[in-house]
Amino acid sequence: MTSQHPATPTVAAADSGRRPGWWRDAVIYQVYPRSFADADGDGMGDLEGVRSRLPYLRDLGVDAVWLSPFYASPQADAGYDVSDYRVVDPMFGDLADAERLIGDAHGLGLRVIVDIVPNHASDQHSWFRQALREGLGSPLRERFHFRPGRGEAGELPPNDWESIFGGPAWTRTVSSDGTPGEWYLHLFAPEQPDLNWENAAVADEFRSVLRFWLDLGVDGFRIDVAHGLVKAAGLPDIGHHDQLRLLGNDVLPFFDQDGVHEIYRDWRRILDEYGTDPDTRRIAVAEAWTPSVQRTANYLRPDELHQAFNFQYLGTAWDAEALREVIDLTLDAMRPVGAPATWVLSNHDVVRHLTRLGSGEDAEQDLRRARAATLLMLALPGSAYLYQGEELGLPEVVDLPDEVRQDPAFSRAKGTNAEGQEGMRDGCRVPLPWSGAEAPFGFGPVPGGPSWLPQPAEWAKLSVEAQTGDRSSTLELYRAALTARREHPALGTGDSVEWLDDAPAGVLAFRRSSPDGVFACFANTGDLAVRLAAPGRLLLASEPVTVVEDEILLPADATVWWAL
Ligand code: NOJ
Repeated sequence: MTSQHPATPTVAAADSGRRPGWWRDAVIYQVYPRSFADADGDGMGDLEGVRSRLPYLRDLGVDAVWLSPFYASPQADAGYDVSDYRVVDPMFGDLADAERLIGDAHGLGLRVIVDIVPNHASDQHSWFRQALREGLGSPLRERFHFRPGRGEAGELPPNDWESIFGGPAWTRTVSSDGTPGEWYLHLFAPEQPDLNWENAAVADEFRSVLRFWLDLGVDGFRIDVAHGLVKAAGLPDIGHHDQLRLLGNDVLPFFDQDGVHEIYRDWRRILDEYGTDPDTRRIAVAEAWTPSVQRTANYLRPDELHQAFNFQYLGTAWDAEALREVIDLTLDAMRPVGAPATWVLSNHDVVRHLTRLGSGEDAEQDLRRARAATLLMLALPGSAYLYQGEELGLPEVVDLPDEVRQDPAFSRAKGTNAEGQEGMRDGCRVPLPWSGAEAPFGFGPVPGGPSWLPQPAEWAKLSVEAQTGDRSSTLELYRAALTARREHPALGTGDSVEWLDDAPAGVLAFRRSSPDGVFACFANTGDLAVRLAAPGRLLLASEPVTVVEDEILLPADATVWWAL
């Protein structure tokens, strides 16, 4: 055990980032509609299920919900393969359900962000079907990337690009006479042909789709694969395999091309048509995997988008030094463009942070670390994204039987060297436990009823019902943290932190100041408890802690919040 006193900031920075705008400090809760709540009992979540649980989200204390896609889709990639952008898939309900959901959310003071998927459509989209039907020379083919193959008989893909889900990014078509035809590009599954954003009809269609949902009342969009829409001219070869690392150092010819920003300047003009009042503004958040936070900031210039996910933060280990570095890099990159930083630990594409940050050897320790990581994240300046179920301390489900898995990344990786959960996404998509002792734990209306992925029996202990009112539970920790975040004037929006440099190794300590109050956060990422000077009144702790004579013993894997 060490004893140290992180009392004085050696780096002092006035927090100048307190601009108006609801999204600047919003806590945005990701609802994955398949797995949130199933009102009709078919084993698949639906919009009516989401609507019925909105009061839970209001009471949790979040500001907005982001709904993953619920549009018409053959579900080759769980709805990220859209066949009609203006239609709700019958498995989730209908447009009237979507309108009711938006209306009820607004009534409860919650904003609603919906996903938009502009990089690719479904192979069942009417454009793609027509392009295939009409064959070579069809003008509809120009809305996608159709190309002749290489090799003597066109038997080789047009270039060496690889799909994010494994295998080549090209699939060969079959002509109506049964002979092999052109190839088409799909950066994801073959059922997700990439759209050609050089084509004016594509840009027009998405302008219209944006307006359709804005007219229905949504408060913003999460832009899927925002960095992928523009491909380098001539679709050049990359020249090596293993292109899949989304956060590599290179700018790939299909990701983060400069031309993509013109699209977002155009979209920003549309969003602004719906008003520019900071309290009601419609916003967009980019899912942009770029080589650096500096390049991510390009998406957030004043005439582009409002937020982007901070995947660099999500990818950082539970390590004080590494965290401090990524926090500084993020804040430094966001300040020049005036955009809020965002923070995220989990989503529907990655291993849940309890499991990812944990050792996997001690479930209690993994939970402690996840709770500490959450309190650290919620103390940072800017906006934060929560993924459904993290407030229950849900772990990744790592033992799903192969036959129930639906992630296309799983089927495409079969027979390859892919191991474990790496790149596999069903384990974070298991339906939520709400109540009761028997699966589906209130996810569906009937005990013993179906759920599209099986839930572990131990999740009875983790249900909303089981945790509500238990002050030691993770759910109550999230509720308390979100309340404190709203109440403390130095929390939420901002663009800087004051590091308390005399914190012992392994402890991240910082202060945040506002004219109405000062706040401090200590997070112990090390293996040992540390004794620290208590700088003020204890607001919240991720683990039980004792303050004795102005000193606190901060356990390993714990975060504490102070009001100064
Ligand atoms: C990112 C989404 O989050 C993911 O779930 C999806 O598979 C890909 N984009 C393709 O749309």
